[in-house]
Formats: sequence, C-alpha cells, structure tokens
Amino acid sequence: MKHLLKLLDLSGEEIIEILNLADQLKYERAHHIAHPRLAGKSLGMIFQKASTRTRVSFETGIYQLGGQALFLSANDLQIGRGEPVEDTARVLSRYLDGIMIRTFKQEEVEKLAKYGSIPVINGLTDFCHPCQVLADLMTIREVKGTLSGHKMCFIGDGNNMANSLIVGALKTGMRMAVACPQGYHPDPVVLDFAKAYEGKFLLTDNLSEAAAGADVLVTDVWASMGQEGEAAARRKAFNGFQINDDILSAANPDAMVLHCLPAHREEEITAAVFEAHAKEIFEEAENRLHAQKAVMVKLMEG
Ligand code: CP
Ligand code: NVA
Repeated sequence: MKHLLKLLDLSGEEIIEILNLADQLKYERAHHIAHPRLAGKSLGMIFQKASTRTRVSFETGIYQLGGQALFLSANDLQIGRGEPVEDTARVLSRYLDGIMIRTFKQEEVEKLAKYGSIPVINGLTDFCHPCQVLADLMTIREVKGTLSGHKMCFIGDGNNMANSLIVGALKTGMRMAVACPQGYHPDPVVLDFAKAYEGKFLLTDNLSEAAAGADVLVTDVWASMGQEGEAAARRKAFNGFQINDDILSAANPDAMVLHCLPAHREEEITAAVFEAHAKEIFEEAENRLHAQKAVMVKLMEG
C-alpha cells in the first residue's frame, strides 16, 4: 500500500491490518506507551472544505507519533489561485513526508498521488471517505468482536460515506444493505464493485427491508458539503429516510448506530436515537485518531 486514495484500492486483508494496528495504537495511548514512529516527519494537510474531526485527529495524531502537521488551507495555497495539482504535488513532495487532502473531485487526489512521490491520504472527496470508514469498521469490531458475518445498513444519501461503507463492509465480510431514494443512489463504480457480492448486497428504497436483522445502522447528512444550494430539494427527497425508533425496531435488538458527524437531528436521525447511541457515535469519532495514526504509520514509517 503506497497511498490511501479509496478503499477500492485495498484488499480486505490490508483493511484488517490497518484495523489491527489501530487497535494496538489505541492500547498504547491508553497505557501511556509512546513510540515516536514518525519522528521528524511532516504531514501536509490540504483542506478545500471545512473540517473538525479530520483536521484535529490528523494534527494531534502525527504529533503523538513524533511528527508534525502543516494545515494548508486551499484559500491560502497557490492551488486556490489556479496552480495545477501536478505542480503542487511535485513541489510538496520535496518538503513533506506525506499529504492528506480533503477536496471535491476524486481525480484531484489521484493526480496528487500520480505526480507526487510521497504517500497521499484521502481525507474526503465527493466520491469517498476512506478514513472515516476505517474508524467505523474499527468501532464495529470493538463492539461486535468481528466484522465478518454481521450486517450493516446505511440509510440516506448514496454519497461519499455510502460509497466507502459499501466497499469497506463487503471487503471485510459484512453483509450490506443500502436504503436510498430514487435519484440518490451510490456511485455506479461502487454498485459495479458490489455486483461481485451477490446475496450479500442489497440496494432498495424500502427502509424496513434494508434494516431487517441489521447489526449496525449508519446514516449521514442529506446534503453534503458543496450541496448547500440543494438543501431544500433534498429535504423533500429524503423525507422519511431517517434512523428513528421505528427503523431500529426492524434491526437486531442490540444493533449499533453510527454517524460520521456532523449530524442534523430530526433530519437523518432523531435526537432520541442519537443520544441513546451517543457512546458508540463518539467512540467512532475518537477512533478516527487511532485509525489514521495506523494509516500514517503504514504509509510513512521508515
Ligand atoms: N466526519 C468527519 O470527517 O468530520 P469533519 O468534517 O469534522 O472532519
Ligand atoms: N457526506 C458528508 C460527510 C461529512 C464528514 C459531506 O461530504 O459533507
């Protein structure tokens, strides 16, 4: 593994190896065991979109590993004034040991990796959110003991989170059901990938069918960053595509609820369900730190 551009590029075994290391790093942090595995290394973090969790977890994560992070807002970089990604990649590769990028187009992340000579980590694009889904899988494994054989259900927009959850769940042996309204399906590339998992993947607009027997229910906002102008139309289209007590009753009695955050209460999830499952949801947020430290060690150590 040279980069983390999307989960489609990783094997199930590689995903499990990252989760194993993430568990170990979480244990070491809890027991005050410090290993400066990335001493002297620098991670550049390019942000074209807002962030709370991704920025803070990467920044503190590399510091805990003995390295440093540089926050690079696209507004302040020449990239924001039109300098090509191809040139930015070749320049930054001469200063840094790794780049994390949050942007709109997946192609930009792929180009950064192609033209640069250092590891690139996708911190969210319109297409996918691999770091978040590694943290989600880590959280599910902590609670359920294993991933394989368990059923995940995603309800809502077929967005970056849905795309990465489908790939992450299927590659690690989970069954996956997705409930989306017509017109808001996951990316065709991901649906094509899922074709190989016959009997383990379901795409429907029937929420109860998707949630039936689920061990984990996941949702995300109806309008993602960059879609603010569509918010009103989306509120209509997604009406009812919500995790609430009704839907929970279709799932297994001990079903977990996850949300990548930020959450919009009474839209994709009720406040009651959110608070009842806050322990899992905030553990999921914490696990961003451990999962991303594992990714950085895998890509940048040595
Ligand atoms: N879940 C997530 O990526 O959060 P941020 O947008 O705050 O980074
Ligand atoms: N789908 C959301 C995820 C935020 C972490 C977005 O792209 O805005």
